[in-house]
Amino acid sequence: LNILFLASEIEGFVKTGGLADVGRALPEELAKLGHNLCTCLPYYSKVDQQYKNQTPITFDFLLNHYDRYFVKAYLVNKNGVNFYLLEHDFFDRDGIYDDGYQAYEDNMLRFAFFSKACLELAKKINFQPEIVHANDWQTALAPFYLKEHYQFDAFFTHSKSVLTIHNGAYQGKAHARWLHATGINSIFFEPNVFEDYGDLNMLKGGIHFADKVNSVSIGYTQELRQPETGHGLHEYFVKKGTDLSGITNGCDYGTWDPSTDPSLIANFDLGNITGKHKCKAHLQTSLGLPVIKNIPLFVNISRLTDQKGHHFLIPALREFLNNPVQIAVLGSGDPALCAQLVQLQNDFPDKFHFTNGYSEALSHQMEAAGDYFIMPSVFEPCGLNQIYSMRYGTLPIVRSTGGLKDTVIALDDSNDKIATGLAFENCEVSECLDALNRANQLYYDTPVVYKRLQRSGFKKRFTWEDACKEYEALYEQA
Ligand code: ADP
Ligand code: GLC
Repeated sequence: LNILFLASEIEGFVKTGGLADVGRALPEELAKLGHNLCTCLPYYSKVDQQYKNQTPITFDFLLNHYDRYFVKAYLVNKNGVNFYLLEHDFFDRDGIYDDGYQAYEDNMLRFAFFSKACLELAKKINFQPEIVHANDWQTALAPFYLKEHYQFDAFFTHSKSVLTIHNGAYQGKAHARWLHATGINSIFFEPNVFEDYGDLNMLKGGIHFADKVNSVSIGYTQELRQPETGHGLHEYFVKKGTDLSGITNGCDYGTWDPSTDPSLIANFDLGNITGKHKCKAHLQTSLGLPVIKNIPLFVNISRLTDQKGHHFLIPALREFLNNPVQIAVLGSGDPALCAQLVQLQNDFPDKFHFTNGYSEALSHQMEAAGDYFIMPSVFEPCGLNQIYSMRYGTLPIVRSTGGLKDTVIALDDSNDKIATGLAFENCEVSECLDALNRANQLYYDTPVVYKRLQRSGFKKRFTWEDACKEYEALYEQA
C-alpha cells in the first residue's frame, strides 16, 4: 500500500514522548513489510539543519479560499523510509508546541497548515496514498481535508484515512475564530463535528471524519468509551462503533536491547545479568548515590505532567524513603513537580536523586540499572517504558490503567509463574505506597520470586511485527 504517514514528532528528528518512538518504528516496520511510506513531519528549528543542504521540493496551496502558503520539503531516507521535513516559518521557533510555559496561540493554524501541506506534498511528488495515517490532534485535520477539500479531486479518489490516538487528553482546542483561517466551513461547527462548548476541537473533528480510529491499546480504547475516562469525548467514541479499535504499540527491540545497548557501561541479558549489576553501580556512582549492590533501586522516567501521577507518587515516596531503598527520577515538565522532586532530594540526599532534564542516554542507563520501574499513571494510552523495563530485567510497578494493565501481568497470590510486575488500582498515596512496600518485600524477602518475575519480563515481547499485522488489517478494513 501507499501510506502517507503524518506525525508531529519522530524519534531521530525530534521527540517529546512516545509518539516519536511510534513515529519512527511504525513506518519503518511497515516499509519492511513492503509498503511504500511517505512520512511527514514539520521542519522545526530543533531538527538538525543539515538536511537543508539539498534542493527542496517547493509547492504552494490554499488553506482556505484565499490564504496561500508556500512550503519547502526536504527528503531524508532512513532505513528504507522516506521522511519529508516540511519547512515553514510556523516551525521556526525554539519550541515545538509551546514556548516552555504556554502553548503557542496559533497552534491550531500551524498544525492545520501542516496537515493539509502533507496532502499537497503527496500530490506534488505524485504519491497517491491508499491510506492517510494521521496521529493525535496535531494531524487530526488531515481526514477532514481529505473528505472535504479534496472530495472531488481524482488524485485522492482511493484514499482512506486512519487516525491513531496516542493521547486523548490533548485535543487541540482553540477559539472559534480560527475556523475561517483553517478552512473549516462553519456548517461543521456543531457538536457532532468540531464544536466543543463554544470552542473548536481538532481531535473531535478528526474522529468524525476519519474512516477508522484506533488508540494504542485495547484497554485505553475501552476507557475512551466511558464518561469518567473518555476525556470528555466518550459519546463520540461510542458513536464511532466498530470503527474505533485498539492496537497495542510495539517496542523497538533494536534500540532497546540490553545485550547491545551502546549507552551502557556493560551489556547483559537473561542468561547473564552481571552486566546489570555493573550498570547499577555505575549509575549509583554517576548520580552520587552510595554504591550498594543489595539495595533495591527504583527508577522513574517521564514527562512531568498530571497524566503521570507524580502528585500522589511524590508524597508516597516521601514516606517510602524511610526504608532502605534508592530512587532515581529523570523527567522534565511541570515546574511545581520539579520543585517537589528537588525538595525530596534535599531531604534524602543519600537515597533520592532527581535529574531535571531530558536525556536519552541516561534513560537507557536507568532502565538498565533499576530493580524496579515506577509508572503510576493516572491514564496511559499504551506506555512504552514499562515494556522497555521488562526487556531490561527491571520490574514495572504500574497503576492498573489502559496500556499498563494490558501489558504488565500483575503479581497476585497465585500467578508468580507468569507475572511480570506489580500493580495497584487507585490514584491514591496509600495504594501507591502499598505497592512500593510490596515491591520492597519481594526484593528483600523472596528473591526467588523476584527473579522469576524478572525472567518472565526478560522474555516478554511486544513486537512491531505483530502490531503491524493489526495495522495492515485496519488499513484493509478502511
Ligand atoms: P508518553 O508518550 O506519554 O510520554 P511513553 O511511555 O509512551 O509515554 O513514552 C515516553 C518516551 O519518552 C519513552 O521513550 C521515554 O524513555 C521517553 N522519555 C520521557 N521523558 C524522558 C526524559 N526526561 N529523558 C529521556 N527520555 C524520556
Ligand atoms: C502517548 C501516550 C503513551 C503512548 C505514546 C505512544 O504519548 O501517553 O501512553 O505510549 O503516546 O503511542
